[in-house]
Amino acid sequence: MIIFDNNVFTLHTRRTTYQMKADAYRVLVHTYYGARIGGGDLSYLIRYADRGFSPNPSEAGHERVYSLDTVPQEYSTCGVGDFRLPSIELELSDGSRLVDLRYKDHEIRAGKYALEGLPAFHGEGGETLVIRLEDACAQVEVELYYGVFEEHDLITRAVRIVNRSAKPVRVTRAASVCLDFMRSDMDFVTFDGRHVMERGMNRAPLRPGVQSVGSVRGISSHQHNPFVMLCDRDCGEDHGLCYGVALLYSGNFVAEAERCQFGDARLVMGIHPYHFGYLLEPGGAFTAPEAAMICSPDGFTPMSHRFHRAIRQNLLRDIPGRKPVLINSWEATYFDFDAEKLVQIAKEAAPLGIGLFVMDDGWFGKRDSDMSGLGDWTVNERKLPGGLHALVPRIHALGMRFGLWVEPEMVSEDSDLYRAHPDWALGAPGRPRTRSRSQLVLDFSRREVREHVYAALRRVLSSAPIAYVKWDMNRNLTDVFSAALPAERQGEVYHRYVLGVYEMLEWMRRDYPDMLIEGCSGGGGRFDAGMLYYTPQIWCSDNTDAVDRLTIQYGTSFCYPVCTMGAHVSAVPNEQTGRMTPLKTRGVVAMSGAFGYELDLSRISQEDKQVIRAQIRTYEDNYDLIHDGDYYRLASPYEGEGYTAWEHVSPDRRAALVSLVTSSAHAAPAFWTLKLKGLDPDAVYRVSGDERRYRGDVLMRAGYPLGMVKGDYQARQLELRAED
Ligand code: DGJ
Repeated sequence: MIIFDNNVFTLHTRRTTYQMKADAYRVLVHTYYGARIGGGDLSYLIRYADRGFSPNPSEAGHERVYSLDTVPQEYSTCGVGDFRLPSIELELSDGSRLVDLRYKDHEIRAGKYALEGLPAFHGEGGETLVIRLEDACAQVEVELYYGVFEEHDLITRAVRIVNRSAKPVRVTRAASVCLDFMRSDMDFVTFDGRHVMERGMNRAPLRPGVQSVGSVRGISSHQHNPFVMLCDRDCGEDHGLCYGVALLYSGNFVAEAERCQFGDARLVMGIHPYHFGYLLEPGGAFTAPEAAMICSPDGFTPMSHRFHRAIRQNLLRDIPGRKPVLINSWEATYFDFDAEKLVQIAKEAAPLGIGLFVMDDGWFGKRDSDMSGLGDWTVNERKLPGGLHALVPRIHALGMRFGLWVEPEMVSEDSDLYRAHPDWALGAPGRPRTRSRSQLVLDFSRREVREHVYAALRRVLSSAPIAYVKWDMNRNLTDVFSAALPAERQGEVYHRYVLGVYEMLEWMRRDYPDMLIEGCSGGGGRFDAGMLYYTPQIWCSDNTDAVDRLTIQYGTSFCYPVCTMGAHVSAVPNEQTGRMTPLKTRGVVAMSGAFGYELDLSRISQEDKQVIRAQIRTYEDNYDLIHDGDYYRLASPYEGEGYTAWEHVSPDRRAALVSLVTSSAHAAPAFWTLKLKGLDPDAVYRVSGDERRYRGDVLMRAGYPLGMVKGDYQARQLELRAED
């Protein structure tokens, strides 16, 4: 619900309230974000005082208690009195860089706004508020967009900057969200790591100054995720106030949290200003990507549940029906395969209940290693005689669907595409290009490049029924210069590149609406809410080790629903860690995601095949609650309790699946009792492998006794069903 009354804007969601006000100087001040309250004008909370060195706007005359440096603001400006983090920076034609924004007008609309060419939450239940601010001197307008999804407690934000002057203006910073707090006793929580170890949770108190995470790698990155939280110092899963903010963007970003001087704090998040400059000719506009905010007054779990539901219901554009369990060829064969080898793997997979065969890297051009072939999207008939036309029917004959790996954004120097169009790779004139994984990045800011690559991909995708595509991206951007743009527009290349990727994904969705697209960037290098709009699942990490996956999937789960996390069982010793884990454990961890296998099934024993059959049955029996239920983090992999545990509960609370993996074993272990969550307290549950019946309240308050578990990295799984 969006209310405007006496210059006060109040956004109510079911459990939260967000408020701002155009004050006496028409500055849009932020007054409240937290648990739902009745309303009223909360601007009395703002403390005004004459603070030494804090400047006063000229209209305030010699009234020294009013300063932009101290009032909480909705979209912070620069150069005119606020020395905290700016949300916007402009280079005006006279060389000045000052931005002073004041309220102009606003509009409240039914339905949720959309953003052309950019991902955005959409669909039922949304409302829109647009507040227009203006810098009267620069003749620049800034439109602040707010989308309100009451049921999800979700507030989205986006920003559009319009040059109304007769001169060009360069936008050099355009944050998507600025969130001011009249407090600073909070923790800043980020999800960080590296390739094959993504999204580890890091939590630290806000300290004076600016703390930031971000990416200047051209993709959202393995290193830092564009989802961050601020929370009470003692916030936990079930108590405390927390704020989660996700940026729907897959390129350079920055999330900055500042503990300011007077016990206040500010969070600013958006496109990274690194090498960013967007030129607006008179009348031109720039749209900053959407950010999504959820405040939970009751801890992390409800915040995650609301993000998960909002993403599932109002962001993903998933294909209808159940996603089949897949087998992927990568860790089974790498580049070394031919049609017979693939069909052999598929023959082993089909009787186990695996429904989708995915041919990974190596099927096209001259591609026997990662040194060549990217860009040449024609089937390598030496490996696959007769092309997909011959291979796919053989897979279909086994009762499986067929999927394909592609890496459209890349080119190998040893490729026909590069030989024909060397200038299509990003690179500055006269400067040697920087390789990574021996490949270069195509200039996806150029339409002709995208069209050429897409035409080639279409020929392949239309040559046989393809049910699934894995869209990979295996390096960071360097040499970011586009041969197609003039010098004064080179600061736009990073962003135009992202828009180009989004556009091609949109073409693919348009032309193949029934095809599932899984995103991937060396695993989870581009696992962000922007990408999820186009690819409803993303390969979570190239690390398939079940134990490392506990922390990776744990961190990922704070914002992203489990149905979005590609997770596979692979062989042991694990390729990335060398660790041995039981097949059961690998299955328990992987089935808490978009489930699949990635190993040579012709090399495993009959007993292991039985285990796999049982895993797939468990997954299928619990599919709805894994994909659409509520996910509870019961025991964190960081807390050293001896195990990590989590639980999926169906929306009607009649069914649950509890999973647990132990850490390395010690003699004489403690007795463990696991307290479950989210059950119906009055229902009576059957627990798999147990004769007794348990009331929901007993399982949640007193707990379920776990037997003594011996051995490293052992898994247990409990299926709960309520009795009628
Ligand atoms: C990186 C991906 O994450 C892997 O799963 C695999 O597809 C390789 N690329 C192929 O080159």
